Amino acid sequence: MQKIVLAAAFVVALPAFAQLSAPANGPQLVASHRGASAYAPEHTLFAYDLAIEQDTDLLECDVILTKDEVPVCIHDETIDRTVADGKTGRVDSYTLAELREFDFGSWFNTANPTLAKSEYVGAKIVPFEEELDCYLRHNPKLRFYPETKDSAGGRAEQILQEMLTRKGLIDTGDPMNRVQTATIVLQSFDPGSLQRMRSLNSTIPTGFLYTAPTSIDILQYQLTGDGPDYIDFFIPNSAAILIDPTLVQRYHAAGHDVHTWTVNDANQMDLLLSLGVDALFTNNSDVLRARIDAKGSGTTPEQRNNPKNFAHGCVGIAGRVTSKDGPGDVWEPTGLRGVQLKSASAGSVTPVPAVPVAAPDTASGRFGGGSLGSVMLGLFGFAALRRKLSR
Ligand code: G3P
Ligand code: CA
Repeated sequence: MQKIVLAAAFVVALPAFAQLSAPANGPQLVASHRGASAYAPEHTLFAYDLAIEQDTDLLECDVILTKDEVPVCIHDETIDRTVADGKTGRVDSYTLAELREFDFGSWFNTANPTLAKSEYVGAKIVPFEEELDCYLRHNPKLRFYPETKDSAGGRAEQILQEMLTRKGLIDTGDPMNRVQTATIVLQSFDPGSLQRMRSLNSTIPTGFLYTAPTSIDILQYQLTGDGPDYIDFFIPNSAAILIDPTLVQRYHAAGHDVHTWTVNDANQMDLLLSLGVDALFTNNSDVLRARIDAKGSGTTPEQRNNPKNFAHGCVGIAGRVTSKDGPGDVWEPTGLRGVQLKSASAGSVTPVPAVPVAAPDTASGRFGGGSLGSVMLGLFGFAALRRKLSR
């Protein structure tokens, strides 16, 4: 019933949305949400490899510090949902070495029997540094989208800044437009995290995530299209945009790009792309790549540079980080986009050979589960705000 109502709503709304059609600020981007997480266990090398195959622009890592302060890619603050064998507890109660013993893949097979693969059993946790080194070796133009999930009293920002400085990944991209070109862009629901990162002298572009205009601050950002100087771009939930379709234009008019999350349904992708959204998070990177290709509004294959064939599984890199200090590779910027290997980590394997630029991999026709839940959440949030304001 919900699907019928939603489909009917789209049919009614489409002509109105067509009148609001607007260009994006630049090429529209695919941000792979926890990797290609519709098809493989989130935040594992399987999901990241697939996102590269599906020709993503940005690879997400939800960052949490381990007990020994190593940034790892995991969404929840506990391991309860994504580790098998009844293991539980907060991520920061385990060292990296302890987390490496756990199975982060089997839960996916249980939850998705039709997509289950035996190779997912025993999938390992991925330190952010290994994600960077592995996929930059495959594609030095790839871009990464870490999200600070738990600041750990400010240690997360401090450690990220130190790690990215050590790796030469702070000052990348076009200084006139780092949001669209930097190798690393940071996101957080916590404005304090973005502010801390900026105060560490970071030039990494910062995006503010939010669900709905449920605070006076966010309402002000939405009405004026502008915010504090430690927010470079805005990342409202897709429901906040669909409820208020001129929102993107207001942010654009004030000079800010707009990204949105998490959009797995092709119809919703088309609507949001037509409204000029600059990037969409999706679990279904292949579907979004196909929609952007159909519109002709994305990066060129040369700009995103994903290899069609590459060695899966990060051989020689997976497993080598032992602490927040690495070991890891050092990179340096190349012009206005991308980096190159400056020095390989000691004990490193031979760098992965260069591969030819991939032809874009087009539509698979697979559609995700949609994000009605997100729409409803946004509606409830908006209704709550209205109630608050009318008191
Ligand atoms: O970062 C975009 C989106 O991932 C935010 O939601 O909870 O999936 O991190 P969440
Ligand atoms: Ca996230």
